[in-house]
This record gives sequence, C-alpha cells and structure tokens, in this order.
Amino acid sequence: MVIIAVTAESADEPRIAVSPDTVKKLAALGCNVKVESGAGSRSRFADELYEAQGAHISRSREEALAGADILLKVRRPALDEVNLLKAGSVAAAMLDPYGSRAGLEALAASGVTLFSMELMPRISRAQSMDVLSSQANLAGYKAVVNAAAMFEQAMPMMMTAAGTVPAARVFVMGVGVAGLQAIATARRMGAVVTATDVRPATKEQVLSLGAKFIAVEDEEFSRAETQAGYAKPMSAEYQRKQAELVASHVRSQDIVITTALIPGRPAPRLITSAMVESMKPGAIIVDLAAERGGNCELTRPDGIVEVNQVRIAGPLNLAGEVPVSASSLYARNLFAFIELMIDKKERALKVDWDDEIIKGTLVARDGRIVHPSLQQPSA
Ligand code: NAI
Repeated sequence: MVIIAVTAESADEPRIAVSPDTVKKLAALGCNVKVESGAGSRSRFADELYEAQGAHISRSREEALAGADILLKVRRPALDEVNLLKAGSVAAAMLDPYGSRAGLEALAASGVTLFSMELMPRISRAQSMDVLSSQANLAGYKAVVNAAAMFEQAMPMMMTAAGTVPAARVFVMGVGVAGLQAIATARRMGAVVTATDVRPATKEQVLSLGAKFIAVEDEEFSRAETQAGYAKPMSAEYQRKQAELVASHVRSQDIVITTALIPGRPAPRLITSAMVESMKPGAIIVDLAAERGGNCELTRPDGIVEVNQVRIAGPLNLAGEVPVSASSLYARNLFAFIELMIDKKERALKVDWDDEIIKGTLVARDGRIVHPSLQQPSA
C-alpha cells in the first residue's frame, strides 16, 4: 500500500495539497493518505471531512511523515520534513525551482525524488495537471474582484432616476491564462474592457470575450509567439512603440490589470512612473507580475503603493486569497499527476522514468539535481 503524507504549509500559505475529494480518489487507488491535523483548516477542509473520505489524521507532522512513500505539498517542503522521508520516496510541490539554489540542493541531497509542478509540460495530456493554469485562472479572477473592491466607483453602467453612473474602464495587459480570466470577470461585472498582448493568437480570444484588442500589430508582433505558445522578449523598437500606445491608453483607464510574463526572464516593464502620473485620481493598478519584478515600475511586491492618488497593488499570492477554490483545483492537478506513478494492480509506487511528464517535472533523484534547466555550467 502506498502511504501519502500531507503536512501543513507555512503560516503565509493558506492552500493545501489534498482536498476531501482527492483523498477519496487516492484511497480508491489503494493509497493510505495521512493528513496532519488542522492542515486543511484555512481551506475550510476540516479533519473530519478528510476522515470521512478515508484519510488518517495524524497528530503531528512527524506522525504524518512516518513511513510515507509520497509527500504532497503546495510550496517547497522544509528540509527537516524531507529528511524524515526515506530515500527514494517522492515529494511533489510547487518547488520554486529557480528560487534558492542552496535550499534546493539540500533537499536533493536528502535522496528524496523531487518533482516540481511548475515545470509541467504544456501538452494536452498534462492539461489536468497544469498548476500554473489552475492557479493563474483564479489569480486573474481575484485581481479584478480586489480591484473592484478598492475602486471607489461602481463597475457597471447604471441608469437611475438620479442620473447615470458610467461603466468602469478596465485594461488588461497580457492575455495568458490570468489575463483571459481577468477580462471575463471584468466583463461579467459590466466594465468596458480593453486588452493587449504581443501574441497575435490572443486577439481573437479577446474579441470573443467581448473586449476590445489594442496592440502594436507590426511585423514583429506577427512572430512574437514561441513554439511553446509563450511570448518572446520584444525588441527595443517594439517596446518604444508599445510604450507610446500604452501611454495614450492608460490615461483614460479606471483599472489596469497587468499579467505580462516571459518565461525565465524578469517581467517586461510596461507602465512607467510617468504613465501612472497621467492616470485619473482613484485609478487602480493590480500587478500580477509583482513576483517577477512587476510590469509597473512602481510596484512593491506584496504591498500597495499610492502615487498621485493612483493605487498600485503587487499581490504575491492571489490564488491563496481564494484558498478553497485554489486548493480544490491544485489537489486535482496533483491527483492526476500522482495517479501516473501508482501501479493500480500492485498498489505500489512505480515511476515510469521515460514518461515525458515525469521527465519534464523531475528535479532531483538519487541525491542530485537532474532537471536540464537546472544544470549549472561547469566551472
Ligand atoms: P504567461 O504567464 O507566461 O504570460 C502572460 C501573458 O503575457 C502571455 O499571454 C504573454 O504573451 C504576455 N506578454 C508577454 N510579454 C508581453 C508584453 N511585452 N506585452 C504584453 N503582453 C505580454 O502566459 P500563460 O498564461 O502561462 O500562457 C501562455 C500560453 O500557454 C497561452 O498561449 C496559453 O493558452 C498556453 N497554455 C497552454 C496550456 C496547455 O497546452 N497545457 C496550458 C496553459 C496555457
């Protein structure tokens, strides 16, 4: 029988790696799921809900980890908990693989096999395991909800006996998973929405959501998408033209949601201080790229900055602000992934090292960091 441990996250992470629903599914695969008491409380998953689906509630972290074959986490596990696992067991989490290298090496040295969910290949077979998508979708939604709560005017147009309230103008920059959900959410709230991106494929998606697309659509724009579906870094000339367009547009906007990212690079700077200064008093910017330096020059990660009566929020864990939904989806992503490595007949852990999904997410094995993107050039 495969023993799966789920321990509590740190104080700043409200999500959890299993839901009562996935405990039931894991139990049906023949796994014994041990959940540390209270670990699900911030996602409103009480111990009793897990127990009712077949989980064993452990009184301590040590008790949950004892004898475990698999450890499931939201964030990178602590070294002292990984050290309690036996060599060859598996830990799967959002490891932040490009974050603290020394910390990652120490985890690898424990001999535990590490999988990083952020490295999930974007192939159709792995869609149900794509944590970046499931969490970005919720982040895009929550960015608009938070902006609406901060905004001191109504979002939809209201025609009343006392006069007409105009619809809010919302501008979404970067139309990936988060941006698409931000557009859809702002539209549902009745805002007039515009959006921009450098990938031509986004134009039709924006229009289909009832928003207006604005972008510098030159020759470079027509080839800005990589084969993997991501954006390329744009030339200085394109950036200049884009800045001109953005400068003239943001001036009239009430809410700007920025989500623009380029894999493996700092977030592109799209909103300068001068642009912020040109905005209307009471305007709101929510910068979802805060973790990677921000799309706005003035963003302070995890804080709110006010300049000329324009407020700029730089939230770092918006999905964590809707933990019940975020944990449910994350847990489903993890379940789909873990199911791959469980031999249903023998009820044992059996990893197919040649599987594209396993190879894509495998960070460390047998004490060493093995992922190709994490190899350091030899000195
Ligand atoms: P992301 O988080 O890397 O970037 C967000 C958006 O910012 C992207 O649309 C990108 O084009 C845009 N951007 C980058 N630089 C910009 C600039 N200078 N100005 C304006 N916009 C800029 O992207 P995300 O959300 O991860 O999605 C990327 C692609 O992957 C999309 O095409 C999406 O449909 C695709 N995808 C595929 C999946 C699968 O096949 N399993 C799963 C999820 C997404």
